[in-house]
Amino acid sequence: MHTPDLFAPPLDHAKRVAELRQALHHHAHLYHVLDAPSLPDAEYDRLFKELQALEAAHPELITPDSPTQRVGGRPLDKFAPVRHAMPMLSIRTETDTTPAGAENFDARIRRELGLTDTDPPVPYVAEPKFDGLAMSLRYEHGVLVQAATRGDGETGEEVTQNIRTIGQIPLRLPDAAPAVLEVRGEVYMRRDDFETLNERQRQKIAAGVKGEKTFVNPRNAAAGAVRQLDPAIAAQRPLSFFAYGLGEVTPAESGGPTFATHFEMLQNLKSWGFPVSELVKQGQGASELVAYYNAIGTQRDSLGFDIDGVVYKVDSLALQRQLGFVTREPRWAVAHKFPAQEMLTTVLAIDVQVGRTGKLTPVAKLAPVFVGGVTVTNATLHNEDEARRKDVRVGDTVIVRRAGDVIPEVVSVVLPSDDASCGSPTIAASERGAMFTMPKTCPVCGSAAVREEGEADYRCTGGLFCSAQRTQALAHFASRQAMDLDGFGDEYIERFAQFGWLTTVADFYQLKDKPLVGFVIREEPFTYKDGDTKTKLVRVQEDLAAKLVASVEESRTRPLRRVIFGLGIRHVGEATAKDLARFFGSLTELAQATAEVLLLIDNLGEVTAKSLLSFFSQEHNKEVLSDLLRELSPLPPMQTERVVSLSFLKLLSTLAIKKVGTKSQKLVVEAFPTPHALLEAGKRNTLQSGSVESRIFEVLSSENWQKALAQTDRLGISWSDDSEVVDGHSSLLAGKTIVITGTLDKVSRDRAKELAELAGAKTAGSVSRKTDLVVAGPGAGSKLADAQKFGIEVIDEAEYLKRLSSAGVFND
Ligand code: IVH
Repeated sequence: MHTPDLFAPPLDHAKRVAELRQALHHHAHLYHVLDAPSLPDAEYDRLFKELQALEAAHPELITPDSPTQRVGGRPLDKFAPVRHAMPMLSIRTETDTTPAGAENFDARIRRELGLTDTDPPVPYVAEPKFDGLAMSLRYEHGVLVQAATRGDGETGEEVTQNIRTIGQIPLRLPDAAPAVLEVRGEVYMRRDDFETLNERQRQKIAAGVKGEKTFVNPRNAAAGAVRQLDPAIAAQRPLSFFAYGLGEVTPAESGGPTFATHFEMLQNLKSWGFPVSELVKQGQGASELVAYYNAIGTQRDSLGFDIDGVVYKVDSLALQRQLGFVTREPRWAVAHKFPAQEMLTTVLAIDVQVGRTGKLTPVAKLAPVFVGGVTVTNATLHNEDEARRKDVRVGDTVIVRRAGDVIPEVVSVVLPSDDASCGSPTIAASERGAMFTMPKTCPVCGSAAVREEGEADYRCTGGLFCSAQRTQALAHFASRQAMDLDGFGDEYIERFAQFGWLTTVADFYQLKDKPLVGFVIREEPFTYKDGDTKTKLVRVQEDLAAKLVASVEESRTRPLRRVIFGLGIRHVGEATAKDLARFFGSLTELAQATAEVLLLIDNLGEVTAKSLLSFFSQEHNKEVLSDLLRELSPLPPMQTERVVSLSFLKLLSTLAIKKVGTKSQKLVVEAFPTPHALLEAGKRNTLQSGSVESRIFEVLSSENWQKALAQTDRLGISWSDDSEVVDGHSSLLAGKTIVITGTLDKVSRDRAKELAELAGAKTAGSVSRKTDLVVAGPGAGSKLADAQKFGIEVIDEAEYLKRLSSAGVFND
């Protein structure tokens, strides 16, 4: 397009106002619709302010299509009814979520058109079915004059003031657009905008603002925003728009457009400035519709917005006319739904589960419900704060959501007054059960459950005395990623543990001598044909017993890293286990490691080092380890995988000797390329007393370092004098101050902090203006609110782990 000279002095106000508007429209379109801004925000703001100033000085120049006029109307008492020039139709819905949904539609179209099997496939357009609300935008002579909801299809409500606030919707069209143009499409809210909005709402509620609520999903939030009587409030609710159809348009005989296909029409809407989804595709016949349905289905969860299916439309407008309508629905289009990702169900109980490390997790037991393609009976409530924030109680009706492979979650409780209940059976608020509280003792072993200061989780203090922790430690050892003991399900492990056959992980290797065949696993009611019932005992059969023994035998030579991982040492995930295996090459060496040696290992910090030292110092674990060593001959890592050299500089950087900075460390390495060289010099008394070198010498002469260096020598590790310490310190996280809050699911909070430090960041216990980043898991409370108050970036655990792995310090 022609770009006017924006920086010329305003000769003529009217001309300048027109120039500014054209430029602002153009850049707003690049920014909001094409997502490709070509002007810095500050420059846009400057032009915007110039226009505002000109309009203030010359109010006669203000027009409703001016970019300054998006927000401005007064609050309404109610919305005015609008009779649609052309009715807003709905479409027939195909709920069969198999390919048959698309095939039925194509078969119907071919029948209606009188096509036979030998005729070519019908050309279609396939589009996402956006989950928002339908809107009709009326433009006259290129200016937006009216926006109306669908209503009953004949009459909707006028919501122009609110719709004008949507940056993606053009207020003014290029000259090429027809004199009368009604664009139909969907107003929706993006998922990220929805999350931000809800977070802001939560904060308002926490601050005690009356009448505020959170929204159940993006569609409800969008509907609420559109029906907001005060346009100033609507303007704060970020909405988006996709165009997918037309209403009244200047007819061809009066100079209006002549499109041959639906797709061509959409391309024109795009060129006039309307957002049209990139996911809209042309395709031929049923097979391509099926392929589209499957392709969009797999992308569904990663789209930035909710969709609830796809829409198929006959592409040719002539064929559309020929097909016509049945009552209120066009014959030429159909909506093909995906399985629902949100469903209503009832909470039967709230159980508290005990994890391998003693963490107590409240879990909602649900009446079985089919959601997101699977039957869901459990949903985690993460921790006490999260359970109380959502205020889930036994007997409640709740919205359960399961998107893709994500674990099912309770979105919210549906109280009798909420519209979302849609007449479903909810109990009166006064009859609800008690609010959830975490038990103060472990529900399995009765030991005290404690919540440490600043932590979100309660932990059972029973350790291996707690049968839940013990069983899970055993199950962890047997798991696929660890020793892969095929056939050992949780039920078997639990029964063997109860029976006393399994107490420690070493006991798996004694099972071969136990009378496994015939062992009673459980009792089951059994009904005879004549209706008689008795209790049947389910026993271990011979073939299963053989399989269990065989898989235990096979596991004797599992790779070392799997054995280390299988021990279930806190903070030692698969990646750390692998690093440890590469460094030590055997369990015996690992068990002898000192803190000094552990801290030399890449991606391993103090939290993990402490945990390892504490594990290997416990008598009980020493016994298990010596039992295991007798049974196992783990496959060591290949020689090419072993750690063969360490940087002396890295060693020096772990010493943290007072007032010895990186510079002097580098000088030391230049003079003494290895710790041994420095030790030699020290022994020969050639180091100046009080010098940096002699202080380092003293530290390295300590018993612990002597042990450490003896171990690295024994492991055949040499010392390099490279001056580059490769650390995560060049990462995006380097130098940042990070606060971690709420429950994390993949790594522990301590490990998360350690990883931050390995990436060169600092962690802090509370949020201040100096905080750069907050990692918030479910149940995050005041720290999250503070972060929002200060406008600090907040990310979730998944995003944090992503950043850590791009910093090269995490790859579990
Ligand atoms: S076409 C005559 N296309 O689904 C056809 N509708 O009942 C008019 N929707 O009310 C609708 N995405 O709110 C069409 N790509 C799409 C759509 C879509 C979402 C909504 C729309 C409509 C309902 C269908």
